[in-house]
Amino acid sequence: MKIAVVGMGYVGSVTAAVLAEAGNSIYAVDIDPMKIESLKNGKPLIHEPGLEEILQANKERFTFSTSYEGIRGCDICILCVPTPNSSGRIELKYVLEAAKRAGEIKPGITLVIKSTVLPGTASRVASETKLTVVSNPEFTSEGRAVNDTRHPNRIVIGSGDSGAAQMVADLWKFTASPVLITNNANAELIKYASNSFLATKISFINEIANLCEKIPGADVSVVAKGMGYDRRIGSEFLRAGLGYGGSCFPKDTQALIGFASDMNERLSVVEAAMTVNSAREQRVLDLCKSALGGNLDGGKICVLGLSFKNDTDDLRESKSLTLISKLEGEGAQVRSFDPIVKGNSQKNHCDTLKECVSGSELVVIATEWPEFKESLTDFHGTIVDARRILDPGSVTKYRGVGLYSG
Ligand SMILES: NC(=O)c1ccc[n+]([C@@H]2O[C@H](COP(=O)([O-])OP(=O)(O)OC[C@H]3O[C@@H](n4cnc5c(N)ncnc54)[C@H](O)[C@@H]3O)[C@@H](O)[C@H]2O)c1
Repeated sequence: MKIAVVGMGYVGSVTAAVLAEAGNSIYAVDIDPMKIESLKNGKPLIHEPGLEEILQANKERFTFSTSYEGIRGCDICILCVPTPNSSGRIELKYVLEAAKRAGEIKPGITLVIKSTVLPGTASRVASETKLTVVSNPEFTSEGRAVNDTRHPNRIVIGSGDSGAAQMVADLWKFTASPVLITNNANAELIKYASNSFLATKISFINEIANLCEKIPGADVSVVAKGMGYDRRIGSEFLRAGLGYGGSCFPKDTQALIGFASDMNERLSVVEAAMTVNSAREQRVLDLCKSALGGNLDGGKICVLGLSFKNDTDDLRESKSLTLISKLEGEGAQVRSFDPIVKGNSQKNHCDTLKECVSGSELVVIATEWPEFKESLTDFHGTIVDARRILDPGSVTKYRGVGLYSG
């Protein structure tokens, strides 16, 4: 098929790459000329494992452009533009603008909304553009997006037009994943309910972690392991730590709560998940404080990991960045290191982990990069493991979230 993909960010570039790999021709559009130039050279501006290789291997299947004009020659147009929050409500201007422009270039084109949008959006877009609109939310995780897109757990398709829904189902047939075809509203809500559930799971185990810190002998990582063996619970997203960040969970939980409240419904479980999450940095800050004898002023602290999770360079809603400003607010001298994020706006960002750690009294593991595990065995200060990746016995002085320490 000839497919237009609009928005070449984390979702759009991976969607385009995997659809090209499956044999389709891709017309890829973004309003950012730098992104497009870089993609033309086979180099994405984002870090996503495996993405560059697919772009290089399928070069001839792509046309990258800042112009919508080439959409005229496409059968289908997939929107992957941002849907940020604005005052606690979803901002739809990018979706509406992209949909209108695509419809003006090719009236009658089937529009697929892959961006995360609230129930009612597809029908609003359909009525404003007179296009057939299919909802096809994306469930991929940054850092493993290529694999997730090649082998999704499920494909959700929402449409009132069974022919259009089938066309989108056929597009993803190569994945051999289970397909759920439903109406637009269900498809849209499945995405928010899924993200809110996963965020709740993280906050749940973080509250259990708080409790573990008060119970002699308790360790949340063992408790989570024991819970996770139960297939009804599952072990994923059951890791205690600094909480969830990134471009999706914080904004999607907030948007869902705002949406519900506009309909006089209160999502108190999701609200609680957000409240617990917003207290995580303070919790880790308190661990650091107690490790340094109750005072952070002048403390030499090294923070490892800046992105919101490992295997990505995405700093949006990064818990690590908020922790750093809180530590600095208490007078600590903070240095930071990240395996991928370089030369960012952090004042004391180090190029190597060794440089960052040397001379520090305290190291905080803020992102779960596996390589941090091997690199800290020679460090003799205290390690605050805010992601629970180390074996507590493998280092000299260890403090971990969710671990009783007397
Ligand atoms: N990042 C994720 O892991 C993830 C996962 C699932 C769903 N989503 C959802 O997918 C959507 C996109 O997320 P993202 O992280 O890829 O965003 P992003 O910010 O990385 O990328 C969006 C891209 O769209 C471009 N853009 C904005 N307006 C445009 C327009 N009118 N025409 C063409 N291009 C335009 C921007 O320049 C940017 O490159 C959001 O709704 C998000 O909630 C994201």
